[in-house]
Amino acid sequence: MNDPVLSFAVPETAPMKKAHVIVLGNEKGGSGKTTSGMHLIISLLRLGFSVGSMDIDSRQRSLSRYLENRRQTMLKENVPLPQPQHVVVQKSPFGVVSEAEEDERERFVRALARIAGVNDFVVIDSPGNDTHLSRVAHAYADTVITPINDSFVDLDVLATVDGQTMKIIKPSIYSEMVWEQKLARAKRDGGSIEWIVMRNRLSNIDAKNKRFMTQATQELSRRIGFRVAPGFSERVIFREMFLQGLTVLDIMETTGGGSLSLSHIAARQEVRDLLKTLRIKAIDDHIARAREDEEDKESAEAPAAPVLTESTAATETTPAAGPRLTQDAPVEMAS
Ligand SMILES: Nc1ncnc2c1ncn2[C@@H]1O[C@H](COP(=O)(O)OP(=O)(O)O)[C@@H](O)[C@H]1O
Ligand SMILES: [Mg+2]
Repeated sequence: MNDPVLSFAVPETAPMKKAHVIVLGNEKGGSGKTTSGMHLIISLLRLGFSVGSMDIDSRQRSLSRYLENRRQTMLKENVPLPQPQHVVVQKSPFGVVSEAEEDERERFVRALARIAGVNDFVVIDSPGNDTHLSRVAHAYADTVITPINDSFVDLDVLATVDGQTMKIIKPSIYSEMVWEQKLARAKRDGGSIEWIVMRNRLSNIDAKNKRFMTQATQELSRRIGFRVAPGFSERVIFREMFLQGLTVLDIMETTGGGSLSLSHIAARQEVRDLLKTLRIKAIDDHIARAREDEEDKESAEAPAAPVLTESTAATETTPAAGPRLTQDAPVEMAS
């Protein structure tokens, strides 16, 4: 199948459910939008929620490729893998800016209406540059999650900061854009957008950088108005299964949790911590239930599951030797 628009089978008259809309946004490529987006989608599905997903990065289409890989794995391996209801919104072909923008807004609203009315969540992956579609998506978000690589260089996605004094010289264009879209949303439907910044690829190697980033993001969160999520560590497990369309959460389910490494458990915890940052009661309830089920399973099976220690969150430099879906399934890196 060439067209990654995986599902359009929702009747127009479906009852409105009003999904919670999460936009992964950051005007910088390679910061972890697609990676966090796909882990959010799969973890929400695995917790039992229905999820719609939208790719507005029509140039890269990473999320769409990932989901197509997932579908292929499901068919080839004959394993049931929960899937989101996925749509792709293309850039407008119109040459006149005002016409193109109008066209894109219409395309976006139509696609959102199709998936938001019948799912609990909608997760939107956006491109790493400023596009009109991305602005529109931000204005329809309930939550914007901005992953940033854990380095001083990436702070400029949020603001220009004086490295010596930690003073904010000026907020970034992206921060201003989020602010504008908060106003646009409030004007449109009186709703609010919650902005969460998530540090990604956390490493224990450079403790000084880590401390600096903690201090800088806390300072910025007060000044610019976002919350800071605990973030994802640098882990091979977050990228190695892209070509299979899988995540660490699928391994947990498909192996029944049998031979999980500490790194897998720590990675799953990081994904759940991100979900908890959303502060949505239904999610917290589902996580608590999932944990109870896991504990029941663990106590029914001997030997006991490994205990998570401080060192499990350490940076990995070698591929995790975790379980695979099948013996010979290829494990390759995401591009
Ligand atoms: N926490 C992480 N640990 C290891 N690799 C990561 C992590 N987050 C992202 N990556 C890798 O970094 C690259 C860029 O991530 P991606 O999610 O595609 O960024 P974006 O969508 O913002 O451009 C990908 O190769 C991805 O696999
Ligand atoms: Mg991407």
